[in-house]
Amino acid sequence: MDRICTRVLLFMVLCSQSSAGEFQLIGSPDPIVAVAGDDVILPCSLEPSIDAEFLTVEWSRHDLEPTATVHFYRHGRNENDDQNPSYKDRTRLLERELVNGNVSLKLSRVELKDEGRYTCLVFKDGQKKTVIQLSVVVVSKPEVSILGGSGTGVALQCVSGGWYPEPELEWRDSEGRLLPADVTQTDRHPDPGPHQRYTVTSRVTVQKTDTNRFTCRVHLQGLNQIRETEIHVPDSLFLLKDGWTTGQIAGSTVGGVLVFAFIGATIYLWKTHGAVWWKNRTARSKDVCDSKGKQPEEAEVETRKRRRRSGQ
Ligand SMILES: *[C@@H]1O[C@H](CO)[C@@H](O)[C@H](O)[C@H]1NC(C)=O
Repeated sequence: MDRICTRVLLFMVLCSQSSAGEFQLIGSPDPIVAVAGDDVILPCSLEPSIDAEFLTVEWSRHDLEPTATVHFYRHGRNENDDQNPSYKDRTRLLERELVNGNVSLKLSRVELKDEGRYTCLVFKDGQKKTVIQLSVVVVSKPEVSILGGSGTGVALQCVSGGWYPEPELEWRDSEGRLLPADVTQTDRHPDPGPHQRYTVTSRVTVQKTDTNRFTCRVHLQGLNQIRETEIHVPDSLFLLKDGWTTGQIAGSTVGGVLVFAFIGATIYLWKTHGAVWWKNRTARSKDVCDSKGKQPEEAEVETRKRRRRSGQ
């Protein structure tokens, strides 16, 4: 009797083990990388592909407060009364995929705080789980501006803010050749929390090329995230004399304009007023030499004076 009981027990244990071991959960050995603002699918599927439509599926993150539940599915429907509020209306299972044993979670409008370790748990006569790491990155398009030209080349500046994690920046010409930056600086934003964002600023001095096109490229190493901006530098900025900056060019242009304006004004004044003044001046000097050149009234007054003196 004892032996039979033992055999039955052993059989039951084996049965329960084999039924629980009927499937495996396949997640992802590598972190899943999502760009903030995008949607992402956290992979999790049964192997072999058993119909999961009527299984119980729980997605959770154990570092969350007040409840770790990200998504809960049971009896053929979602039961999200106990869902963590930060995931409200942002999660769903892929209904059409469930029959294929695909219980991946679609997370919409990813935020930086979604970064973490997610557990996919499936109950079927026992339970299986797998953990998936979600990494969230924040990227932005760089802005490139021309600082000015000088004898040594044209200075360009590139600024790209709000990155997470810390990005790398490089300058390239249109042939893809790396250009050495004059200076590159990375600033950490002062906002609190574990996800401090970065702004990167860089300057480069470029020489004239066939295309005069230059690219500022900001990227996250190993995460396949690149954002870049190209700028075209006008030929004229490369034609500056040694040691002349655009400011000096502007200054000398203004100076030149002022000199021309002065000469022009002088000529104009001479032509209009100068001729009259010259005429008056020659007339007056003639008066000094010849008193007959006096005005008629003056001459008459003079005559009267003479008559008075002669005692009339
Ligand atoms: C699960 O479904 C998603 C969305 O359709 C798909 O991208 C993914 O490849 C599927 N997983 C498997 C293992 O088929």
